[in-house]
Amino acid sequence: SLEKSLRPQTLDEYIGQEKIKRNLAVFIQAAKQRQESLDHILLFGPPGLGKTTLAMIVANELGTKLHTITGPAIERTGDLAAVLTVLGPGDVLFIDEIHRIPKSAEEILYSAMEDFCIDILIGKSEETKRSVRVPLPPFTLVGATTKAGMISSPLRDRFGIIGHLEYYKPEELFQIIRRSASILDTVIDDEGAMEIARRSRGTPRVANRLLKRVRDFAQIKGNGLITKAIADQGLLALDIDSEGLDTMDRRILSAIIDQFRGGPVGIETLASTLGEGRDTLEYMVEPFLLQQGFIQRTPRGRIATEKTYQHLGRVISERRAV
Ligand code: ADE
Repeated sequence: SLEKSLRPQTLDEYIGQEKIKRNLAVFIQAAKQRQESLDHILLFGPPGLGKTTLAMIVANELGTKLHTITGPAIERTGDLAAVLTVLGPGDVLFIDEIHRIPKSAEEILYSAMEDFCIDILIGKSEETKRSVRVPLPPFTLVGATTKAGMISSPLRDRFGIIGHLEYYKPEELFQIIRRSASILDTVIDDEGAMEIARRSRGTPRVANRLLKRVRDFAQIKGNGLITKAIADQGLLALDIDSEGLDTMDRRILSAIIDQFRGGPVGIETLASTLGEGRDTLEYMVEPFLLQQGFIQRTPRGRIATEKTYQHLGRVISERRAV
């Protein structure tokens, strides 16, 4: 395509997630040496940390084809059977949001993963209705989901390799931004790259998006070079604050402070107050705020921390006693 891909194509090109990378390199090499399909892989982690990229890299490193589908796109068992029956030997099937597949499809996955076969119901009338066993080639399922606990244990137990993706360190995002800038033919200095890295919520997808927008500011408001000053200007315009929090992050933190006197507040209550889905809040937004120490979980719900009061310029003495 015209758009140059910022996605790394190999494990060597992939920056960060060192533990997963190191382990995958061994498992991939071992499977190739034995001329077997790689064991099934389950990836956990918030959006934008590179689960899809890893699935693409696994297929690329194996030298096989990648097939992709998302959990919610599988409405009936036939949707799943359709992708399973076109797999070639050793191919990778990536199911994003695997926790959202219907139970009936999940049961088909069990035999597909374990025995490389599926049972399909055929026949229209009661007399002709029967089940046919369809063999599948050995393949590798890569499943991705946002959080442990969203996936049933029978399904989880059928994955031989489990990886938890973590938020990236600013130094890792710095390297990713330098690499992306080079692919985009954009000049960025170290201070500019570090400023974007620090304010990217630990997330490469965010870092690459902010890089592209800051590049626009550099081109139109500057001389094309991305400096710290240009990064500051761009990020301010995008409502990304000094800690990298976006509008949604600040809405959540402000709601805990203003409407629940700092908490504790249950996730369900907080979600409905904000008009957001509970899962969006719990698995996509909150993990970063927890990791950065803006929110703490208590048995009675979420509370805003001292750091949050300071960052938002609020008075902590107005907080409810916890
Ligand atoms: N682009 C997006 N994520 C990346 C990663 N983890 N390594 C290198 N480039 C990336």
